Amino acid sequence: MRRIAMLTAGGDTPALNATIYGAVTRANALGIEVYGIIRGFAGIVDPRLPHVRLNPLFQSIPELDPTKGGTLLGASRTYVDPSETELIAEFIPRLQKLGIEGLICVGGDGTINGMQPLSEYFPCVLAPKTIDNDLGLNYIDEPTEWFLPERAEPGRPRSWHPPARETIELDDIINFATPGYATAVYVVASGVERIRTTAESHRRIAIVEVMGRDSGYIPLGSAYGQPDIILIPEVPLDMDHLEAQVAKLYDLQKHVVIVIGEGVRDQTGHQLGAATKSYDPAGNVIYSGAAEELKRMLALRFGDDFFSSRRRHESADSAIFTRKVGHTQRGGRPIKFDRFYAAELGGKAVELLVQRQNNTIATLQWTKSNGFQLSSLAANKLRDQDGKIHPRHVHPSLYDRLRFQPSRLGKDYLMAILTNAIGNDDVEAIRSETFSPGKLSSRYQSMNIDIQRRIETLP
Ligand code: F6P
Repeated sequence: MRRIAMLTAGGDTPALNATIYGAVTRANALGIEVYGIIRGFAGIVDPRLPHVRLNPLFQSIPELDPTKGGTLLGASRTYVDPSETELIAEFIPRLQKLGIEGLICVGGDGTINGMQPLSEYFPCVLAPKTIDNDLGLNYIDEPTEWFLPERAEPGRPRSWHPPARETIELDDIINFATPGYATAVYVVASGVERIRTTAESHRRIAIVEVMGRDSGYIPLGSAYGQPDIILIPEVPLDMDHLEAQVAKLYDLQKHVVIVIGEGVRDQTGHQLGAATKSYDPAGNVIYSGAAEELKRMLALRFGDDFFSSRRRHESADSAIFTRKVGHTQRGGRPIKFDRFYAAELGGKAVELLVQRQNNTIATLQWTKSNGFQLSSLAANKLRDQDGKIHPRHVHPSLYDRLRFQPSRLGKDYLMAILTNAIGNDDVEAIRSETFSPGKLSSRYQSMNIDIQRRIETLP
């Protein structure tokens, strides 16, 4: 194999450049040229096929910096639908014209579907990334259980169900952690710690909303910020139990910090984030988000009296406040865990291509006896009977729904990933770069500008 291509698809994560760096480093050693396709699958379907040579003369280009968040190749949420045969027939020859013999897609579940049609023409492999940490399985035969009708939950999509196995061994987990997750947890935990002091000083209830769609790994990891209550999408909201806990904590410590995953649902399966419609002055519908909806629900239950009788606030509205951590949890410098394993997975992806593996995922396994190790998995092993890939959910045994905290096993899971996840160089970067005087006299230098002069297109 002499020339391969690489693209980054889906939402960005902090470790994408580290994955590219790992792949290019391995390719340099193997004498393989790597072309980076610009803006994920949007670049593939573009007739000009914009691309960058990432290792001319088998030297990585200097713009490729594994400590920088985002992706120097750009990303998009464009995917190729396997049924779009005409489109595929147009772009495959373009890739072949460029001499591409294999493709590495860096992405999550949507990206696997996007690479499927291409895998019929040349080997395609996936290097995983997602802050949601939802690419993988709790155990290898989990996809066969997706459609067991007796496991379906009311109000949820047909595919939503608690896993059949009541407990798991951590060694069973397929693709233990995805690059990007550790950094997101770091940002979220730091944010929760900072929100705490305001809630504490002003006798308030803080509700912090974090990302993760339908999977609760990010809220689970927020435990490092010591929130009082963690709500994950996998567990339907029990408002009576929550209200009792919040009231108890508020009386005890005069404030409460709640972390809520953006996909949390009520007992009927309805997503809180999509629940409340309000109307702006122009009559447009505004969806308020899970934290806002939870605030509304708690305010309704407690009423103003609860707070005024304790002489802390006049109204529930002023006592309860919400914050979304938002895209800060998806950006910036990746911490050591993400950088290191992202690079390893990128290198592994190159090896898989060289071995002519196709439609395969580079994975990160963990065992109690050996720690982290690289492995791989046929992408189809993630598919259910209908060929669909589902987000991995936090297994019930990782979460204690009575205490609203990670369970014993959940803590073991988090510790395997996050103990020592921050490197000395990360700490040094904060010390030396945050208030670097040079920042005041120079503008931000965008990697988009740096890379632009390297972009080539087909004639
Ligand atoms: O899948 C990653 C993720 O960050 C989710 O956690 C979140 O719901 C979504 O992407 C946000 O996407 P966008 O940046 O397109 O709004």
